[in-house]
Amino acid sequence: MIEAGKTYLVMGLLDADSLAFAIGKTIERFGGRVIYTVQNEVFKKRFLDRAEALSRQEIEALDLRFCDVTVDEEVQELFADLGPLRGLVHSIAYANPNTCLGEEFHTSEIDDILLSHHISCVSLATVLRHAQPSLKDGGSVVALSFDTAHVYPYYNWMGVQKAALEALVRALARRHGRDLIRVNAVSAGPLFTKAASKIPGFGSLTSLWETVSPLPWDTLKDKQAVADAVTFLLGPYAQKITGQILTVDGGAAITGGALMGFEKRAHPPD
Ligand SMILES: NC(=O)c1ccc[n+]([C@@H]2O[C@H](COP(=O)([O-])OP(=O)(O)OC[C@H]3O[C@@H](n4cnc5c(N)ncnc54)[C@H](O)[C@@H]3O)[C@@H](O)[C@H]2O)c1
Repeated sequence: MIEAGKTYLVMGLLDADSLAFAIGKTIERFGGRVIYTVQNEVFKKRFLDRAEALSRQEIEALDLRFCDVTVDEEVQELFADLGPLRGLVHSIAYANPNTCLGEEFHTSEIDDILLSHHISCVSLATVLRHAQPSLKDGGSVVALSFDTAHVYPYYNWMGVQKAALEALVRALARRHGRDLIRVNAVSAGPLFTKAASKIPGFGSLTSLWETVSPLPWDTLKDKQAVADAVTFLLGPYAQKITGQILTVDGGAAITGGALMGFEKRAHPPD
């Protein structure tokens, strides 16, 4: 699906549960070379080095760079060092769970909202501004989103950031068509990761999915379905697709209300 032998940057690795990790492994399976970014060395020690699913050798074999996307110089330095890329994945988001997520939408902590906006949306433009020389023969950029057509409980300001991110995907797609760089996003259903575990009420969101998703949705296994869609958008089979949001959520986002009893699978898989 991707171009074997080419290099892809996957930004936003925290631990073995990260969508970034599932995406990186999938790119490798198709013969691509993967470079990951981790936010900083402290996070690597705290999360990646303690990931039980990974052996020491597996961690040491990863090609890792550090990059905090809110620091322009760090993003610039990252790309100065990388060489040519064929694609890039932005798998990064943050919102303070105490102020920007939870039962109450309103908050007076405007700085938290702005930081969340910077990390979860604006940083995609920062990254592409600095990545452009590394994508000089064109390439593909994919970001990760969550259904913006509906308003969900608890997700509050992150829902707003995702809507802005999707608008940015379209703006960047228009801006970079002339550079043969495509920009798209995959909108994923709820999946268990560190970021998701910080969303208060995330369990309720996943239960809600079971009631509205026509296809069965597995909050662990379906990371692979999301990674497959990202890999498709990175590669040549998606060569005329840009500015799009590809939804990979079991169909939940198009469903009006809960499924009726007769619409549910008679024999759910084990
Ligand atoms: N897990 C889900 O249910 C789900 C659903 C839809 C979309 N997404 C999106 O997928 C993406 C990846 O999230 P995930 O669920 O794999 O969680 P994760 O916690 O594994 O990844 C989030 C990453 O963002 C990074 N990050 C936060 N602030 C940063 C900064 N200033 N600089 C650099 N990196 C920073 C974190 O270090 C972490 O690596 C996010 O955009 C998230 O919104 C997740």
